[in-house]
Amino acid sequence: MKIIGVDLNKCIRCEECIKECPSKLYRKEETNDQEGPKIVFDDEFNACILCGHCIAICPRNAIMWDKEIDDNLWEFEEIKDPSKIIDINNLMKFIRSRRSIRRFQNKKVPKEKIELILEAMRYAPSASNLQDWNYTVITDPDKIKYFQKQIMKSFYFFRTILKFKNIFRFFVFGYKKKFLTDPKTKKFVDDLIRSYEMGIDRIFYNAPCIIVLDLPKYGGMEGNNAGIAITHGMLAAQSLGLGTCWIGFAQEAIKRDAKLRQWIGIKNNRVCQGVLIIGYPAIRFLRAPPREKLKIKWL
Ligand SMILES: Cc1cc2nc3c(=O)[nH]c(=O)nc-3n(C[C@H](O)[C@H](O)[C@H](O)COP(=O)(O)O)c2cc1C
Repeated sequence: MKIIGVDLNKCIRCEECIKECPSKLYRKEETNDQEGPKIVFDDEFNACILCGHCIAICPRNAIMWDKEIDDNLWEFEEIKDPSKIIDINNLMKFIRSRRSIRRFQNKKVPKEKIELILEAMRYAPSASNLQDWNYTVITDPDKIKYFQKQIMKSFYFFRTILKFKNIFRFFVFGYKKKFLTDPKTKKFVDDLIRSYEMGIDRIFYNAPCIIVLDLPKYGGMEGNNAGIAITHGMLAAQSLGLGTCWIGFAQEAIKRDAKLRQWIGIKNNRVCQGVLIIGYPAIRFLRAPPREKLKIKWL
């Protein structure tokens, strides 16, 4: 998408675009016309982040953009006061009800529902409005099995490393050293491998749908941009009667395994920053679990 300018036949010079644009790319320009100064969009340095706030705020829909994105504008009455869409009590109940789901019904997720979840992810905020998420959706059970097998290979490899942890511990520091030498790490890996060999899926929990998110390596905010998109997806899924779980194990395995990245189609300049499983929950929670007290400093 690219902003082209202001349709002066529609523009009423209210200057809302000037006030709203975060990059300050709109300005008033004096004319000799009777109508007075006109509003111009001036983006000499290509600084527009395409946030669309000008489009969203213009009372006359006078902002022109190229139609590269085949998208309808979303105009609905409630957008004028979003606080009326969901009241805080319902929202808090909805947020507190979200759980990571690890037991799923043996039931496929319809494509339309997956598309709605992706649409919710599309509307997540991103630094500088980059929106540079790529999503790979995997629903073929054989492919999910292959994916799981590849991830398990990294756990077999890690088990070997753990056998020699007394040597390796001299080469790692801080959190990694603690993780390597903690006896619960070995127990966890042994249990995981044992379950796998018994045919129990403790990576994807037999979920019928997996979404893998990748984005460019820009060395800063990719984790944030991924996290917020995945969260949007989780909440959308919940409102569709679906359960989700973020699978960090898969994400880390993808980062380490070039073959897996190639299989998924993640290019070298991109990184996986989120893996979400989706399915119909085979479990009903009866209450929200307790959470840590908030640690807040009012400065
Ligand atoms: C970044 C991230 C990675 C996670 N990775 C895994 C995972 O690999 N396997 C898993 O079963 N749960 C995973 N989880 C789920 C967390 O364990 C879960 O969110 C946490 O225990 C709180 O439970 P709740 O989501 O039901 O509130 C992950 C969550 C996040 C945010």
